[in-house]
Amino acid sequence: MEPDVTKNITVLPGDGIGPEVTAQAVKVLKAVAKAFTMDISLTEKPFGGISIDQYGEPLTDDTLQTCLQSDAVLLGAVGGPKWEDLPHHQKPEAGLLGIRKALGLFANIRPAKVYPAFVNNSTLKPEVLRGTDFVVLRELTGGIYFGQPRGYNAEKGWNTMVYEKYEVERIARKAFEIAGLRNKRVTSVDKANVLDVSQFWRDVVAEVHKEYPNIELNNLYVDNAAMQIVRDPKQFDVILTSNLFGDILSDIAGMITGSLGMLPSASLGEKHALYEPVHGSAPDIAGQGKANPIAAIGSVAMMFNYSFQMTKAAQIIEQAIEATLQAGYRTADIFQPGTKLVGTEEMGDLIVENFEAIFHEEGLGVFTL
Ligand code: IPM
Ligand code: MN
Repeated sequence: MEPDVTKNITVLPGDGIGPEVTAQAVKVLKAVAKAFTMDISLTEKPFGGISIDQYGEPLTDDTLQTCLQSDAVLLGAVGGPKWEDLPHHQKPEAGLLGIRKALGLFANIRPAKVYPAFVNNSTLKPEVLRGTDFVVLRELTGGIYFGQPRGYNAEKGWNTMVYEKYEVERIARKAFEIAGLRNKRVTSVDKANVLDVSQFWRDVVAEVHKEYPNIELNNLYVDNAAMQIVRDPKQFDVILTSNLFGDILSDIAGMITGSLGMLPSASLGEKHALYEPVHGSAPDIAGQGKANPIAAIGSVAMMFNYSFQMTKAAQIIEQAIEATLQAGYRTADIFQPGTKLVGTEEMGDLIVENFEAIFHEEGLGVFTL
């Protein structure tokens, strides 16, 4: 009997522009699967604000169980003003933290790459930016986001930043492995001059580094790292950091590229993986068909790369994105005079067309997993 090679993918469109950009990502996903004669099965589930509206909670057990049984999860975006005033544990954001924890997604990869066509879009000078290509590797299931005790009352509020040794070891290993496939440099970011948990982090990272003698390691304090990212972003290859610091630094990193709508991300665990755009739900432009689907489509490329080990498929998706930009097509967020303005759906169609063209050009008729 043939082994079951069907890949089960759970799709969580979420809120705001989430459903619009996810629809385009799914279109690309289907085109890629068809080209590579790969069987996929897609299951869509409610998540975030839309789930709160329907079921009173951001992450239902049904949605979670479906994610747990799938090979990969594709997420749009969650949140919006409608749910902002709910208590913490009922907000869409709580669903996001819940799914990360339940799927064990400890490693969050957020690339910050400056596309040559966008060096003028950033708030930074083109000469500072040109050639920037690094990833922020953010620890995602520990640290102050999850540490106990936590709480607040009328008199005080408190959280706990805590890391277990195994948590630092596994994310450090991931960083050295990713750097091994890139430019072999890891910068670990902490606040070891003040925080005990950071000194511990730094010591454990140094210990793990002994297993990777071909990778260069240096350490930066987080305040300095924030400054260095805007001063000279080219110096970085892999930035390894904890949950909260990674949250902040990945926003800085995303913004300097001048193309937040273009940045994908992957959240990986031992058994599960989730892919989502770095941008949020952008409620101000939701439903208008003008959101940029490239971050969502790039997240599909990451899925082929990390979950299905189909690097060729990932590469062609990226080439298709670049070809579309090269041909001058832009959504509103990345529009420049002289380029051609397109909507969400048209951008998705163009990328599918380019994918198919590149696929056939390369003569990739038959492909085995
Ligand atoms: C992110 C977001 C989330 C985070 C929020 C929405 C909970 O800012 O993915 O970076 O802080 O992790
Ligand atoms: Mn964030």
